Amino acid sequence: MLRIETLTKRFGDKTAVDAANIAVERPTMIGIIGRSGAGKSTLLRMLNRLSDATEGTITFEGEEVSSLRGAAKRDWQSRCAMIFQQFNLVPRMDVVSNVLHGTLNKRSTMATMFNLYPQADIHRAIEILDRLGIAEQAPKRAEALSGGQQQRVAIARALMQDPKIILADEPIASLDPMNAQVVMQSLRTIHEEDGRMVIANLHTLDTARRYCDRVIGMRDGRIVFDGTPAQLTTGAARDIYGAGADFSEDATSTQIETLDRPEVRKAKALV
Ligand SMILES: Nc1ncnc2c1ncn2[C@@H]1O[C@H](COP(=O)(O)OP(=O)(O)OP(=O)(O)O)[C@@H](O)[C@H]1O
Ligand SMILES: [Mg+2]
Repeated sequence: MLRIETLTKRFGDKTAVDAANIAVERPTMIGIIGRSGAGKSTLLRMLNRLSDATEGTITFEGEEVSSLRGAAKRDWQSRCAMIFQQFNLVPRMDVVSNVLHGTLNKRSTMATMFNLYPQADIHRAIEILDRLGIAEQAPKRAEALSGGQQQRVAIARALMQDPKIILADEPIASLDPMNAQVVMQSLRTIHEEDGRMVIANLHTLDTARRYCDRVIGMRDGRIVFDGTPAQLTTGAARDIYGAGADFSEDATSTQIETLDRPEVRKAKALV
């Protein structure tokens, strides 16, 4: 269904993604884990063609999407919708209009300029919001919602495109644990009920384990693990994160990164 072959991205002499190979045979919920700088975002951005690969190919349902240009490339981008850590909503605009933005690719410039949406699209937007449990928020400004609600609006906007794949770059990294669960469960439900593929970059091992069918571990741009949550042993996790023998099951990339950050080291040195 989806085939990524020797996909590589270089920035100068830095190789952010190094000859990644991934084959997905059926709609799957995939979690990508790895410490900061491992290449997770770069991989997702290449998939959605926000960024061009230096080498390699991406094929979806037999079509090579990595070489598409112009309208064909935009069509691919609407088939693989992307959601982000910071939601990327228009804060002052109402929720339903934010969701309707998901149809932008398909609308004429005139309709966009005058903010004209077909009645059927408005109904569909409300239906999707309802499915995500936030229909009553529809008339509010996006900025008035909690983070978890805003991320669900972003998911609703993605669903307006009726995508085959939903790419999520750290979708819960800005959320408290409660909202994080709601958002992950929404993605899981969309995957199960609609048969959409979901590929999410995740910060924590337990989230990947709990919600995903398959986990891909990246380290220094390379895929160093690809298996089921059950196969993701402590040893495998240690290998992905490049952590020492003191690595514990509870440790997540978040904690490891925090400990590694210079400002934290500095703060510790001051204590
Ligand atoms: N536009 C860019 N220009 C130069 N280097 C880049 C660019 N984007 C990413 N990189 C580098 O590529 C590597 C991979 O970055 P990427 O953002 O994909 O990592 P990540 O796994 O998403 O990390 P994080 O968990 O912090 O989000 C890093 O070393 C990063 O500094
Ligand atoms: Mg990233």
